[in-house]
Amino acid sequence: MLPANSPIGIFDSGIGGLTVAAAIHKLLPEEQLIYFGDTAHVPYGDKSEELIRTYAERITNFLLNEKKCKAIVIACNTASAAAYSLLRDRYKGAVPVINVIDPMIEAVIADDEIKSVGIIATKTTISSGVYQEKFSRRKPSLIYHALPTPLLAGMIEEGFYNNNISTAILEQYLSYPPFQDIDGLVLACTHYPLIKNEINTYFNGKVKLFDSAQVVAARLQWILQKENLLSEKRCGNNHFYVSDFTESFEHSTHIFFGHQVQLQHITLS
Ligand code: DGL
Repeated sequence: MLPANSPIGIFDSGIGGLTVAAAIHKLLPEEQLIYFGDTAHVPYGDKSEELIRTYAERITNFLLNEKKCKAIVIACNTASAAAYSLLRDRYKGAVPVINVIDPMIEAVIADDEIKSVGIIATKTTISSGVYQEKFSRRKPSLIYHALPTPLLAGMIEEGFYNNNISTAILEQYLSYPPFQDIDGLVLACTHYPLIKNEINTYFNGKVKLFDSAQVVAARLQWILQKENLLSEKRCGNNHFYVSDFTESFEHSTHIFFGHQVQLQHITLS
C-alpha cells in the first residue's frame, strides 16, 4: 500500500466522472485528486468492452505508475461494466479499485419504497447486463426495465443540457412505455447528473432519481478508512488531465471546481 497522503486517481471517458470527483472533493477535502478524462475516446458507450478495457488499463497504469495514486475510482459505468473485474483482480491487495455500479445497486435495493425501477445508460452498459444481473440476484422482487440512451452522453459532453434539444431527446427516451409506472430511475451513467433536473421535471418529481456521485464518495471513504489510507492533510492541488483538449471539458471543470483548475493534455501510449 502507498502512503495515506498519496493522491486518489479517478477516471471517466470525459466530463461525467467530474460529478463523482466533485462529490469526493466535498466529502474528503483533504484528499488530492488526479482526474483523467479520456476525451480522445469519448463516448465509451458505443465501443466494445475489449477496447474499453484497453483504455482503462492504460489510464490506470498512468495513475498508478506515474502519479502514484493510492486508490483508483472508475468514475464511469461503461468502464466499470467492462473493466472493473480485470482491474480489481490485477491490483488485489495492492491498490483499492472502486467502481460506480455496486454502490448504486446497494442504494437502490436498500430503499424499500422502490418496487419498480428504470435503468438508463449507454449501450455498452445495458448490453453488459450488469445492472440486470445484480438486481435479479440481490433483490429478486424488484422489477426493472433497462433502456439504452446512447445520445445522452455525447449530448452532455458537447454542453447540450438544459435546452430545447436536450429536453426533446429526453422526452423521446423517457416516454418509453415501461417507464410510466416506475418508482425510481437509475442514472447509470456518470454524465447524467448534469441532466437530473430535466429528468425530474419530466417525471414531475414523482420518480426517485439515483445517481452515483454521493454513494461512490461514501464507499470510497469507507474503504480508505478500512485500509488506513485516509489523508489527514492535503499534499497538493487537484490535477485534471485530458487525452484531447475540449472546450466543453474545460467549461465543466470550472463549473465543478472553480477557476483555479488547469487542464493538462497528455497522450497515453
Ligand atoms: N460517463 C460514462 C458512463 O458512466 C460514459 C459515457 C460515455 O462515454 O459513453 O457510462
